[in-house]
Amino acid sequence: MIESEEKYTVTAALPYANGPIHIGHLAGVYIPADIYSRYLRAVGKDVIFICGSDEHGVAISIKAKIENKTPKDVIDKYDSMIRDAFKKFDISFDNYSRTSKKIHHETASDFFKNLNKKNIFIEKESKQLFDKEAKQFLADRFVKGVCPICNNDEAYGDQCESCGSSLSANELINPKSTISNSKPILKKTKHWYLPLNKYEKFLTDWILKNHKKDWKINVYGQVKSWIDNGLKERAVTRDLDWGIPVPIKDVGGKVLYVWFDAPIGYISSTKEWAKNNGKDWEPYWKSNKTKLIHFIGKDNIVFHCIIFPVILKESYDFILPYNVPANEFLNLEGKKISTSKNWAVWLHEYLIELPGREDLLRYVLTSNAPETKDNDFTWKEFQARNNNELVSIYGNFVNRVLVLINKYFEGKVPSPNNLNKKDLKTLKLINEFPEKIGKKIEEFKFREASQILINLSRLGNKYLAEEEPWKLIKNNIKKVQNILFVGLQIVAALSILSEPFLPFSSKKLKSLLGISNSKIKWNDLISAKEIIKPNHLIEKSELLFKKIEDDEIDYQIKKLNKKPIIKL
Ligand code: MF3
Ligand code: ZN
Repeated sequence: MIESEEKYTVTAALPYANGPIHIGHLAGVYIPADIYSRYLRAVGKDVIFICGSDEHGVAISIKAKIENKTPKDVIDKYDSMIRDAFKKFDISFDNYSRTSKKIHHETASDFFKNLNKKNIFIEKESKQLFDKEAKQFLADRFVKGVCPICNNDEAYGDQCESCGSSLSANELINPKSTISNSKPILKKTKHWYLPLNKYEKFLTDWILKNHKKDWKINVYGQVKSWIDNGLKERAVTRDLDWGIPVPIKDVGGKVLYVWFDAPIGYISSTKEWAKNNGKDWEPYWKSNKTKLIHFIGKDNIVFHCIIFPVILKESYDFILPYNVPANEFLNLEGKKISTSKNWAVWLHEYLIELPGREDLLRYVLTSNAPETKDNDFTWKEFQARNNNELVSIYGNFVNRVLVLINKYFEGKVPSPNNLNKKDLKTLKLINEFPEKIGKKIEEFKFREASQILINLSRLGNKYLAEEEPWKLIKNNIKKVQNILFVGLQIVAALSILSEPFLPFSSKKLKSLLGISNSKIKWNDLISAKEIIKPNHLIEKSELLFKKIEDDEIDYQIKKLNKKPIIKL
């Protein structure tokens, strides 16, 4: 075990570079991971936020066949689209790598070789589905058939999307090749298996006994049912031509299973980050003072809570995840988001059609995140959250304070004198918000955290509405000074506490307040008596959020329903 100070290694599931990303990806994984990482940085923690594109697996090969391209063309195209979307939504990765990079191939091969040397794998021959027309073995998404569990006839060779079961190709009833549509035959081949059954005790002791309270129930429940149903050995190699070659002499035509190499991508991405920044990667993965947190969607639970931990446990001195806050799924207008049916809100389209509205989408997806159950995104709610919360509460409050200070005091923060009980109480209340919000973030309750933030502006609105400084300006300027001083402190707190959720608005608000370079930190707000001092000059107000009209929403709803169904 490596000695080091407290650290956080935050990972977000590596998206498959076989298509662009949509709101479901943002809501389920990247926004919560981003809020969490930004918050940890804000409170001064040593944190790295790691991700990259997942560029192997059958999903990529299939996309290449559909687009009549090479897998390399496919990953280059989608890696750059995905990167661009993340950048534009300001997802604050410390490193975003790719599993096609040399550093990753080397790292993943090294893991395999090490486990092989330690005799962790079972090597065995068995009969696997083979497509005679395409002359290739069929694994994972190269086979479709009837799910043995729920009878869905569109189940894949790795998973049934209908009931969520993870399958192996041989279990499918009436299997069919997705390459040629032909009926596959069985053919002998050799593979390397990870005997998960041997790790039941380890997993029970580590997760079922220890993490009942601090892991989300959906995650705990899935892990428990996996273990209760009995873990089986899992092949970690495949007969495919796209992937990381199995690093054993004279093994031709075999690659590592994508789910073997992809999570190791978190480690290779960390190595790449360390190399580019003159740091040491190891403490982030090997120190017992480091907290490793995996943000994922619920379909990834088994890989992050069972398979990858077994790999980590048997490999050198790696730590195990501290938490795996998996989210449920986000539906869209009452239906499951579907790439093949083009039922999705694609980020690259959103960015063009609703420019400057990045924080709005971040906010809507946070306040309605599928944290404990599947949730629905609707354009009507999107509009309502914007107009009723960001515009009417948050934006309106900020704007009123800034406009009044400009109007009455030429932009100069007024001096307080003889603050009354209510003013003092309001200032005290501000001090409670950093910890209240922080606590919810630390518990992975991002929805609640975002609502507490809005409550801070509610508090400000209520204070202004009750004090009515505009009515006092003629007779009691001293009182107006006090009210606007207090109001401005709330605005200043908002500019800092919004940062994890609304990074664009936070930045803009700080610049309107003239505190872009201020050193005031999240935790300073816990005891600060004044965040911005009297006589400090602020800028003219600008609106942070704009109303969304019905026609913008109608356009989106029509567009969704008009989308052609693309047959894959
Ligand atoms: N690409 C996978 C998916 O989209 C996630 C991979 S996560 C990792 O479901 F851990 F394997 F990287
Ligand atoms: Zn099923």
